[in-house]
Amino acid sequence: MPKPKAVLFDLDGVIVDTAKFHFQAWKELANELGFTFTEADNERLKGVSRMDSLNILLEIGQIELSELEKKHLATQKNKRYIELISTMDEKEILPGVQYFLNALKKGKIFFALGSASKNAPRILRAIGLYDQFDVIIDGNAVTKAKPSPEVFLLGARQLSVDTQDCVVFEDAQSGIEAGKRAGMKVVGVGDKNVLHGADDYIVSMKEMSIERMNSLFF
Ligand code: BG6
Ligand code: MG
Repeated sequence: MPKPKAVLFDLDGVIVDTAKFHFQAWKELANELGFTFTEADNERLKGVSRMDSLNILLEIGQIELSELEKKHLATQKNKRYIELISTMDEKEILPGVQYFLNALKKGKIFFALGSASKNAPRILRAIGLYDQFDVIIDGNAVTKAKPSPEVFLLGARQLSVDTQDCVVFEDAQSGIEAGKRAGMKVVGVGDKNVLHGADDYIVSMKEMSIERMNSLFF
């Protein structure tokens, strides 16, 4: 009977709730540019790379800028984001995550990070999880953003595991698509009425177990 040999975790929205900090930083930037950016707008940025997020934000504000101006704004947003996440510690790890990581370690199942964020290593260090991951693939390591499968394919390759033996945990629609395009099983983390295309759905990692994950392979 086939069983998962590796797990790939998205970071933002799966391991930690950083969406609130991204939202705060983007909202401040939008205000400065003279328009309102709502929490509903922020949903569109989940899983989306920094530059793509800025492009969506500018589209909402109906603002056209040069590439250089965009680069400056992305840097400004990121500085503010780094300020906001500087207070993060292990208390920010979402419920059930550490328990499930311990179960994976006990079951000798490798796990990697597959995140679009260039700040992923900083965040993992802040919450004390950096050394627990076998492999870390972040926004600096990929050339194509999710829904490209690149981030997860790279993770599987570095773990030396076949893609069909991998399970992805994702809270963003673009990430679910990336995992499926990589040929992996995907568990959607969030509202199953909103997310689609995953093999299973949970609201919190507290609901996950090795048994439930194994059942994806039968
Ligand atoms: C993703 C987040 O994980 O990382 C997005 O869901 C974010 O909201 C993206 O834009 C890039 O993050 P960063 O930290 O590189 O700006
Ligand atoms: Mg996410």
